[in-house]
Amino acid sequence: MNDLRQNDLTARLDIAYPIIQGPFGGNLSTVELLAAVSNAGGMGSYGAHQLGGDEILSLNTEIRHATDRCFALNLWIPDKENPSPVLSRDQFEDYLARFKPYYDALQVPYPTYTEQVLVPYEEQAEAILEAAPPVFSFVFGIPSKAILQACRQRGITTLGAATNLAEVQALAAAGVDLVLATGFEAGGHRVSFLRRAEDSLMGTLALARIAAEQCEVPVIAAGGIADAAGVKAALSLGAQAAQIGTAFLACDESGTSDTHKDLLHSPESGNTVLHRGYTGRLARFIPNDFLAEMDARDDLPLPYPFQSWFTTPLKRRAAELGRVEFASHYAGQGAPLLQYRKASELFESLVTAL
Ligand SMILES: Cc1cc2nc3c(=O)[nH]c(=O)nc-3n(C[C@H](O)[C@H](O)[C@H](O)COP(=O)(O)O)c2cc1C
Repeated sequence: MNDLRQNDLTARLDIAYPIIQGPFGGNLSTVELLAAVSNAGGMGSYGAHQLGGDEILSLNTEIRHATDRCFALNLWIPDKENPSPVLSRDQFEDYLARFKPYYDALQVPYPTYTEQVLVPYEEQAEAILEAAPPVFSFVFGIPSKAILQACRQRGITTLGAATNLAEVQALAAAGVDLVLATGFEAGGHRVSFLRRAEDSLMGTLALARIAAEQCEVPVIAAGGIADAAGVKAALSLGAQAAQIGTAFLACDESGTSDTHKDLLHSPESGNTVLHRGYTGRLARFIPNDFLAEMDARDDLPLPYPFQSWFTTPLKRRAAELGRVEFASHYAGQGAPLLQYRKASELFESLVTAL
């Protein structure tokens, strides 16, 4: 057996290759993609932060029909300062007025008022414990001691994400089993929780290397890894696996739109920006008119989760209509390296060099 393929992490997860398909929130994950990666000998993941408890339980059943190999379910940990943000009636009216021009432009019905705009995390965490996936991965924080303890009792491996060295240490000190060192090159959100995302812009090379040197816990590298050379680089930094998002998002099996996939495979993906414009949280995108609008307005974007709640119907409709000026196109900096549209072919290309 080649040394690069097997290590403590692959042994713990019982996977043949140190490759993880990163989870995608916002309904962009699919069971098909997860199963393609898990059945090929890596670990597939599913982003479940938008799902309620019952939905997580049926998803778990569906996944277990599609694969009997290792997989991860992923949640967003609530903000410590404001765990369940409430939208007041007055705020709703005020925010809606700011968004009306965009709803009108796309002919999307205005949203109806709701006080709670996030699915309760406690309900989600309970469902995760009941589903007992092989791996529970999470971002934007650390689950409580009680939840980590319950995971250990149920044999659920925990995997938490860090964007700076303080977060690496906090995750390891909390007893999280695996630490994801995610550089600012990554697609999706900058999942910082101890400092502002803007103050946590370490690159994968430094973050993963230092984490692997300083941390007893196995480290996974993510951010800008999109081909076999990137995977080998991550492993030679001391990471025990590479987590890959954008390259899998661009495959047929992912849940994003064909327009988004085509953009990821186009030269336009070579220019990405970190922006709060779609969700109120910093994330990496291919820029478009909507983000330029958000720069030009001083009353938008709203803070998370309100910006996200108001933009979700717009993004969905824009994606259906192929309106690239409104739709969100998450992308990591490795996108110009993309070559494959089939997850099995991408996976094969990643592992042959190991
Ligand atoms: C569209 C999109 C959505 C994502 N959603 C999540 C998520 O909900 N939870 C999470 O832990 N990571 C999420 N990520 C991060 C990926 O799982 C992965 O760590 C990251 O994409 C790796 O960097 P790369 O895109 O450069 O490969 C998302 C990434 C993208 C591109």
